[in-house]
Amino acid sequence: MTKEELVQQAFLAMKNAYAPYSKYHVGACILTDDGKTFYGANIENASFGATNCAERSAVFSAYSNGYQKDRIVAIAIVTDGNRIGAPCGICRQVLSELLNQDTPIYLSNGKEIMTKTIRELLPMQFQTEDVIR
Ligand code: THU
Repeated sequence: MTKEELVQQAFLAMKNAYAPYSKYHVGACILTDDGKTFYGANIENASFGATNCAERSAVFSAYSNGYQKDRIVAIAIVTDGNRIGAPCGICRQVLSELLNQDTPIYLSNGKEIMTKTIRELLPMQFQTEDVIR
């Protein structure tokens, strides 16, 4: 699957966003090494802190179905915003543990595709080895 196709899949996931409060829609799609796709959308809640972001939904879905970081080939994260939506801080922290450092992260708002890695998006990471000594 090309990065354009993965981005397209993320836009399909974005249609499932539940965002009655922000009206900001985000979709994500993860591609695995056997060609499977796992989708995520942002799911909001009246208790705002209970909201789950799209990329976390997608990566939790991949893990929940038995696919861990070594089997994740790429993730696309898309929004309907005016500019590309970079992952929030909580998502960067989660992705830093659940993706390999150099796994491509495709970001798009439908106008262009930007490719990043979690190594670039989150320098000086707080990681497993800090906790388990
Ligand atoms: N959101 C995401 O889904 N991913 C991000 O990385 C940034 C924020 C969602 C959460 C909330 O539903 C809406 O965007 C506005 O913050």
